[in-house]
Amino acid sequence: MLTVVKINGSPTQPSKTGILVDAVADAIAKVTPVENFSIALSNVGPEFMCGLTRPDISAKGEELLRLAESADILIIGTPVYRAAYTGILKHFFDLVDRDAMRDRKAVLCATGGTPLHGLVIEHQLRPLMGFFAIQTATTGLYGLSEDFANGAISSSALQSRVDRAAREAVTLVDHSKAIPELVQ
Ligand SMILES: Cc1cc2nc3c(=O)[nH]c(=O)nc-3n(C[C@H](O)[C@H](O)[C@H](O)COP(=O)(O)O)c2cc1C
Repeated sequence: MLTVVKINGSPTQPSKTGILVDAVADAIAKVTPVENFSIALSNVGPEFMCGLTRPDISAKGEELLRLAESADILIIGTPVYRAAYTGILKHFFDLVDRDAMRDRKAVLCATGGTPLHGLVIEHQLRPLMGFFAIQTATTGLYGLSEDFANGAISSSALQSRVDRAAREAVTLVDHSKAIPELVQ
């Protein structure tokens, strides 16, 4: 059973990013048994924002950071804010232990108001994952408003990318199990 932890960096609800992140979790659950956990920063953000360093955050925030640090697969989503990931998501990752997520797997998701900012995944989220030595699914997921309707993904193109990213993440886990000496 894989532990999947969804992290949604949107500070607001309802959240298109949350729909995308949930869709990835559903797609992963279709190919392998999982236990799902959710860290929606719109809800639990104050547990982290109440402190500038890790010793200063709340006990609940510390518990959630440990949960994220122990995930087999992270599904990380953010709305584009001012051409970047949200500040609250960056603060969350500023609190993560620099070695705790080494060789974890992640699917990267973002939503935005313009297609012009779709490369936020490649130029900002993926380098952040590189810092933590997190292995990312090759397929990044970027959704626009028109890709969502009635609380679900309405674009078949985006849904097929979701399914592909989910398979890639599970394959990364399987490869790590097959060659354990490559994973510390
Ligand atoms: C403060 C703020 C800044 C934003 N900046 C951008 C931006 O730079 N580029 C963009 O494409 N969309 C931008 N947007 C639009 C959001 O990224 C978009 O609506 C997103 O899907 C919201 O995600 P959510 O529903 O998960 O919160 C911005 C929205 C807000 C509220």
